[in-house]
Amino acid sequence: MKHTKVKDLLNSTTTLQEVNAKGWVRTFRNNQFIALNDGSTINNIQCVVDFENTPDETLKRITTGAAISVIGTLIESKGAGQKYEIQVNKLEILGDSDAEKFPIQPKNKPSLDFLRENAHLRVRTNMFGAIMRVRSVLSFAVHNYFQQKGFVYVNTPIITGSDAEGAGEMFKVTALPFDNTPRTEDGKVNYKEDFFEKETNLTVSGQLEGETYAMALGQIYTFGPTFRAENSNTSRHLAEFWMIEPEVAFNNLDDNMDLAEDFIQYVIKYALDNCQDDLKFLEGRLLDEEKSKPQAERSEMALLEKLNFVLENNFKRVSYTEAIDILRDSTPNKKKKFQYIINEWGADLQSEHERYLVEKHFKCPVILFDYPANIKAFYMRLNDNTEPGRETVRAMDILFPGIGEIVGGSEREERYDVLVEKMKALEIDEEELSWYLDTRRFGSATHAGFGLGFERLVLFVTGMTNIRDVIPFPRTPGNAEF
Ligand code: 4AD
Ligand code: MG
Repeated sequence: MKHTKVKDLLNSTTTLQEVNAKGWVRTFRNNQFIALNDGSTINNIQCVVDFENTPDETLKRITTGAAISVIGTLIESKGAGQKYEIQVNKLEILGDSDAEKFPIQPKNKPSLDFLRENAHLRVRTNMFGAIMRVRSVLSFAVHNYFQQKGFVYVNTPIITGSDAEGAGEMFKVTALPFDNTPRTEDGKVNYKEDFFEKETNLTVSGQLEGETYAMALGQIYTFGPTFRAENSNTSRHLAEFWMIEPEVAFNNLDDNMDLAEDFIQYVIKYALDNCQDDLKFLEGRLLDEEKSKPQAERSEMALLEKLNFVLENNFKRVSYTEAIDILRDSTPNKKKKFQYIINEWGADLQSEHERYLVEKHFKCPVILFDYPANIKAFYMRLNDNTEPGRETVRAMDILFPGIGEIVGGSEREERYDVLVEKMKALEIDEEELSWYLDTRRFGSATHAGFGLGFERLVLFVTGMTNIRDVIPFPRTPGNAEF
């Protein structure tokens, strides 16, 4: 007999004579009621065991974490909270789980820290099951959005020979030995003898390669892993994270903002429509967690309300210059509550500033644009008519409440001469990036794109507060278990 998913059993339109369910025991009460979960939904199916006719030996083996198979009748449940339950006729233990040793015991309410150390088992909790299903649905929504719009999905390389993006510190990729490393005459590592015969790294962004494809296919997107060796041990940074990078020929910065806003709203709507049970559970979890916090630190909106708010309200578009004025005049700046006081135009915004703008001042998602040229990447389009000494670029960052920066992007510098001049000023090797410059040498045109950090999106949608809890096996400084 083939087994049926718990989700389908719970959604059944009729009672059924005989069904088979397989899953893992969440709890076993009164020697009679098994809460069985198989990962297809956050909801468990209750399996009622006829304990009088079940050998004691078997009953003892129905422990939290054990894998079992039950065959029985799907009947309407007399208990509250579920429509159906299974009256068990036959129960088979597929895999035991020693109650003394299984670390995930629902009774002890394991801490998030403890669960992180048990990342291979934490997915057996309601919370992580919900997060990982939402994550999966969100990634499908990403593809859906771009595919429906005719974007081409491009797989940019993970091992890259270009190191000029400047987005972050890189992890080296090498097959050279660490002892007896081949050296050049002047004592440097001789990468000519390495696997690729040159220095290579894990990619920090697929953008530059993506641009070359956009300049042929028109609209492209990437969705893949990205690596940054920054030593930032925060609740928003991973050393390995997934990024979505659309790039569109003939789009300017305004088009880019429109695309980013529409895209984010679409995927959030998609999750709301397709992950109701999981999101409701996560909303409850968040409320629970916040009970222990002082009133001032609690969110103003519950999770679903917050998600709907993002769908129903336009993101506020604010230039960097306006933002600096707001920050300079803000109470925390005047009272020197910011760690980094904003005195002058040109200052780089820290996350405390971004969060002030989003959470205190505007109270909605914000798109900041037209940043000072010297705090942004070399490839961003220099604005026409900017004051000397106050040059700005057509950059945009999208800031989200509770998250900070979720998107970074720009209109690209399409003018060959301006781009090359900028690269010279920043001592970026033109030879190395000659292939990139070809996009500007042959058929250059206005184009724009952005990168969205997928885990930051999952953080926002699930209402979790630490990025380590929204990726299965997080990689952070000092941490590469599993
Ligand atoms: O702002 P970033 O560095 O932009 C780029 O890499 C551009 N090449 C994107 C483009 O225009 N195609 O990174 C983009 C986004 C950030 O806004 C953030 O959401 C996420 O990637 N991000 C990280 N997420 C998790 N951990 C990290 N260490 C991250 N660094 C960036
Ligand atoms: Mg950025």
